[in-house]
Amino acid sequence: MDYEKLKNSQLNLKFSNIKEITSEPQQNNAESFQNGKKISVLFRNTIPEIPYTTYGVFSIYKYPAKFIPQVIAFVLKKYGVPGMRIFDPFAGYGTAGLTAKVYGYNYQLWDLNPILNIIHDTATLGRPKMKVNELLDLIDCIKNSNKEFIPSWSNLNYWFPEQFLPILSKAWGFVHSEKEKEKKYLLLIPLLKVTKYFSWSDEKVHKLYRSKYSRKKIETLLKGNWKNVFYRMLKQEIFSLYNKLVEYEKLSPKEVEYEVKAGIDTLTAELDKKVDILITSPPYLQAQEYIRSTKLELFWLGYSEAYIKNLSNKEIPYREVPKIKIYSSTFFEYRKKIKEKHLRSLYDQYFHAILSCFSRLGEKVENYMCIFVGPAKVRNNPIPIDEIIVEHLKEFGWSHEVTFVDKILSRVMFESKVNPASGMKDSRIKTEHLVVLKKQK
Ligand SMILES: C[S@@+](CC[C@H](N)C(=O)[O-])C[C@H]1O[C@@H](n2cnc3c(N)ncnc32)[C@H](O)[C@@H]1O
Repeated sequence: MDYEKLKNSQLNLKFSNIKEITSEPQQNNAESFQNGKKISVLFRNTIPEIPYTTYGVFSIYKYPAKFIPQVIAFVLKKYGVPGMRIFDPFAGYGTAGLTAKVYGYNYQLWDLNPILNIIHDTATLGRPKMKVNELLDLIDCIKNSNKEFIPSWSNLNYWFPEQFLPILSKAWGFVHSEKEKEKKYLLLIPLLKVTKYFSWSDEKVHKLYRSKYSRKKIETLLKGNWKNVFYRMLKQEIFSLYNKLVEYEKLSPKEVEYEVKAGIDTLTAELDKKVDILITSPPYLQAQEYIRSTKLELFWLGYSEAYIKNLSNKEIPYREVPKIKIYSSTFFEYRKKIKEKHLRSLYDQYFHAILSCFSRLGEKVENYMCIFVGPAKVRNNPIPIDEIIVEHLKEFGWSHEVTFVDKILSRVMFESKVNPASGMKDSRIKTEHLVVLKKQK
């Protein structure tokens, strides 16, 4: 796509529901940065047409380290032209695609985690055609169904009280055998949520974890009329999803071309066509095991133990990766400071993996690469991931345009807290960095 020509014609493009960017990022705190500059911004306040971060289908399911839609919208409005193809090679929840659709961009999403497919296909259902009474009938259909489904999971009895298995099996049997797309997808995510609630795992934390709270939750359920609770929760979740689908429609999502590849290993996959903008947030350097944290869901969705294990083995940074030449002095400077062998090897695996993905996939990216990285520390040493990415990618024909620095709002609360152990001001205030790189033509 001829970027300059399109960008010039952008002013002539009208959206039915979208204003031009009204608020530019605040330019306070601008500081110089090795190859460009840093600008401080609160992404959540830059996009008036998306009123809050959990709006519509941007919050139908909890996914660790999910993008807020405003980050993607900001990039599209600032650097893109509708009609372009955007690409997220670590798409997770798929926020990049769901936002791209609102602004009329084609998209391509990849992720190792197959749950991406479920979230994406649910979120893009459109305004449901079913009426409220038909939604209520769905619950009766489940109650009366004679289909059964039990996941092939050796740990099933560890995570679920046996009393709950018949009701879960009936509900999942119904969903798995449902042929009508709308019905099936209005049930899948609600049922995933209720299933997690009816497990010994603490649904408030991402990983599978038995907590004091979750033990209490199950004990209380077992003492009461848990069947009623099950169907009541399911009904509430179906209505909540329904409302979110309707809310998303207010943003007038467009018909665009898209491709979603879930269960794909980005480290070895190739792009088969050119894309205009790559926007992504790669896996975290510190413990965040995405497959493990969605394991319970994946089993009920019907994936086998061997398949899930195989996915886990491909997760960055917990896998060995072929070494590449790294063009960043900052990478080596920080590497030297890490004394423990296992931490150094995690650090190596992380950077060799993500940098090789970006330099290789970048060959098919025509205009911009926008890479969003969170805070990372190794033994209390903050690692400037953004600077390492910039230094390395310069060697591959990418120039550093700018880095946007966003404070993580939920942590701002801690800003003035004093750490009781050290008596010093707590340094947990974190920032997230969006690195913008431009292809040198
Ligand atoms: C920070 S999350 C991305 C979150 C995403 N931006 C969103 O809005 O939800 C990083 C993602 O990288 C994925 N990932 C980890 N290793 C991968 C691999 N080898 N290939 C593809 N994806 C991988 C994880 O499954 C996770 O979803």
